[in-house]
Amino acid sequence: MFSPESVDLEILSKRAFNLRWASLPKGTIPLTAADPDFPCAEPIREAVAKYARDGYFSYGPAEGMLTFRTSLSDHYLKTRKVAYNEANILPVDSAAFGIYLACKTFLLPGDEAIIFDPVDFLFRHSVEAVGATAVAFPIPQSLEPFDFSKLEAYISNKTKMICLCNPLNPTGKVFSREELQSLGEIAVKHDLMILSDEIWSDIVFKPHVFTSIASVDQEIRKRTITITGFSKSYGLAGLRVGAIFCPDDQCFSAIFNQSMHASTVHGCNVAGQIAATAALDECQEWLGEFVNHLQKMRDICVTGLNSIKGITCQAPEGCYVAFADIKKTGNSSSEIHRLLLENAKVAIVPGLPQWFGKGANGFIRLSFATSASILTEALTRIKNTLN
Ligand SMILES: Cc1ncc(COP(=O)(O)O)c(C=O)c1O
Repeated sequence: MFSPESVDLEILSKRAFNLRWASLPKGTIPLTAADPDFPCAEPIREAVAKYARDGYFSYGPAEGMLTFRTSLSDHYLKTRKVAYNEANILPVDSAAFGIYLACKTFLLPGDEAIIFDPVDFLFRHSVEAVGATAVAFPIPQSLEPFDFSKLEAYISNKTKMICLCNPLNPTGKVFSREELQSLGEIAVKHDLMILSDEIWSDIVFKPHVFTSIASVDQEIRKRTITITGFSKSYGLAGLRVGAIFCPDDQCFSAIFNQSMHASTVHGCNVAGQIAATAALDECQEWLGEFVNHLQKMRDICVTGLNSIKGITCQAPEGCYVAFADIKKTGNSSSEIHRLLLENAKVAIVPGLPQWFGKGANGFIRLSFATSASILTEALTRIKNTLN
């Protein structure tokens, strides 16, 4: 399923945008946006094809399809041990929109939200897009346990929300129950909301275990909005589908009113919901195999990077990205980016503030959701160029 033959470069070079195959010159290997090189699982293709064959693409329910919301509720209860009434789950057109919508609903201009640094740019982007201020909380680039007691110094009387990314893109950290408990206790103490982006929560490598912060205790659950998506685990980025889990009816109503789904200005497209329902209901075995494959790719990637002079990389606990320290090469991450693009024909993401915050300075990020042969070729090219 995840063999080199299953990667169709001809299709990818026409369809995979966002800094990937279709956005780059032919011959360049894009270890950039975290989007798998593999086609999605067969049951997803079947479900979308069957829906399309019926020939009707009518408006779906504004609150999202009940079958999808039920699958989301069942899945979170079974795999994350958190009970959400399906009536409090809103399908949205992506995790990215989910983050933005949560910010739009609960932050006013002048409010502050804590974001980790480094972390994916979407958090700062969404907080600022609604006129609030993103306050960066510096975290270790390594995977050591977090000391959340330092977080309190970043909280002011304007702080309304803490944005959690678990597992954390780009460092690959998976938070322990104890860490989440201490983060949650700070949120309770200061009466803050928690926005928990769990889009990466399926991509966790043994022996690490994912814990949803809403499962830690009831007080924490009450103030947590959980977001998920289908781009990472199932390769459905182009279908733009995700979901927001709200702790109660009041939170759901506030989010739903802001979503503009009722007016059809926005909405979660039905094909995406059909695909995501099939993913949850019929693709868990496929997902297990995908994660096994990724664990092998992680090991190839980390070993390869650590064999290059000046580069050190810890094995991520989750996410299919390697976050490598390049400071000892004597080059900046932009210089490494340019060098690799021009000389190695490999594209990576430089650790620039616009992608991950200031805390990514001196790092590069590489996605390893590809086949062993493409990854090995990319690593060989990187090594030959940098050594
Ligand atoms: C932490 C995080 N959240 C959200 C997203 C965006 O997901 P979607 O494609 O569902 O918008 C990404 C994509 O890289 C991500 O890394």
